[in-house]
Amino acid sequence: MQITLETKPLAALETDALVTYAFEDGDFAQGHIGELDKATGGLLSRLNKSGEVTGKSLEMTLLHAPAGIKAARLLLVGAGKREQFNTITLRKVVGAALRHLKSRSVHNFVFLAREGAATEETAQAVAESAIAADFETDKYKTDKKNDKFIDSLAIAGYGEAEKGAGEKGLTRGCIIAEAQNFTRDLVNEPSNKLTPTILAEKASAMAKEAGLAIDILDEKKIIELKMGALLSVAQGSIEPPRMIVITYTPAIPKPGAPVVGLVGKAVTFDTGGISIKPADGMEKMKYDMAGGATMLGIMKALAALKPSVKVICVVPATENMPGGRAQKPGDIQTAMSGKTIEVLNTDAEGRLILADGVHYAKQLGATHLVDAATLTGAIVVALANINVGVFGSDQAWTDKLLASAKAAGEKMWQLPMDDEYRELIKGSFADIQNIGSGKGGGSITGAWFIREFAGDTPWIHLDIAGTAWNDDAKPWLAKGPTGVGLRTLVQLITSL
Ligand code: BES
Ligand code: MN
Ligand code: ZN
Repeated sequence: MQITLETKPLAALETDALVTYAFEDGDFAQGHIGELDKATGGLLSRLNKSGEVTGKSLEMTLLHAPAGIKAARLLLVGAGKREQFNTITLRKVVGAALRHLKSRSVHNFVFLAREGAATEETAQAVAESAIAADFETDKYKTDKKNDKFIDSLAIAGYGEAEKGAGEKGLTRGCIIAEAQNFTRDLVNEPSNKLTPTILAEKASAMAKEAGLAIDILDEKKIIELKMGALLSVAQGSIEPPRMIVITYTPAIPKPGAPVVGLVGKAVTFDTGGISIKPADGMEKMKYDMAGGATMLGIMKALAALKPSVKVICVVPATENMPGGRAQKPGDIQTAMSGKTIEVLNTDAEGRLILADGVHYAKQLGATHLVDAATLTGAIVVALANINVGVFGSDQAWTDKLLASAKAAGEKMWQLPMDDEYRELIKGSFADIQNIGSGKGGGSITGAWFIREFAGDTPWIHLDIAGTAWNDDAKPWLAKGPTGVGLRTLVQLITSL
């Protein structure tokens, strides 16, 4: 999809479809909507009065060949309450409009940002949500339509004065959304098409193209480095594990600047191991590598955005299988850090591979850590598929992340990390056990387990088990992988 900025006045815009949005307050007299209403001889306000156009959230009104404007169609999208309008709503409006149009074989459109909204932030949000909405998950269908993508989008409403800001947001938005779709492509792959080895190959290809340094640790190297926690998960599978390490170094490194370590869980399939999962819904466990895929996508974006801090991305990749050599409940493993772990449940494998990932990232020089993982079913109970669960050991670092999430339009919610929860994973026969004793707090005890390996290094954990996968298609996004977390972390790192 080609995305450009359009500075022509409204009535002169020639396009297959002109898209804009209206609020519930019935104000069709002011601003761009007022201009369009006037140009079309009062058509919009008439439709509003008759109750056909209400402005209710994501209501779609497609008008054909409206007299008075040059566009072949006018698509008016409901944007809900004016006071509640924000970039999250804007993203939904753009995405839903794009999917509405392409399902009707319209492949070119102009999106008109409303009066006062012609900013850098808007252009970025429009570009990002359009590219994300254009993504489809039918890669393995044989009856794919060739014309299923949008060819061109122009963002209008910008005058000469706002053009510079608009172009800047547009460029940034394209980079970020292409990276997000790269992540979603990886997450969409089934486990027979994406083993740890293949994931590492795809990461290498991306890093080479982006000009990033990459180091792939194979099984031999992982054994040499004594990554016992990662190996304990991998030993049940005939597919060997990989530890993927990608580094971004700024051209002029600032002395004393933080070095960010990004650690992402990449279990390319999670059967649960010997603590095997029920058959129903197990197919979804192909997305248990979403945390790792998110971190890889972030590195792709950073290579183009060139932030001023160094970033080390560490992605432990493995399958979790119940093979003849698989670890068993009660087994005691020694992590790379030297800590011993009693594995009470082999299905709590994400925290095991992250233990070695986090330790290794610190050893490579990370001063500030963020991990992302589809870690617990409990986070779905707590926050459903609406908010990412946020856990942190350092409130200043966590506050930066939460502010970045707000700016990026991703919903995240912090959960408590009181010391009392740590007690629940104290080991009986080893230093630490991989599930909590007693009931409840499953996402928090999972986070505490990882924190044990972060030590004093400021650390954040994102539990994306509920948000990395859409079970149902949304009007603005295809069913399947969401790429959640990427925009927030890119925002965090570029703002340091
Ligand atoms: N990959 C799962 C978590 C998950 C659940 C991801 C649902 C996506 C959707 C993780 O490895 C897991 O199995 N966690 C266990 C932990 C438990 C054994 C303490 C869980 O949540 O049941
Ligand atoms: Mn599991
Ligand atoms: Zn898992």
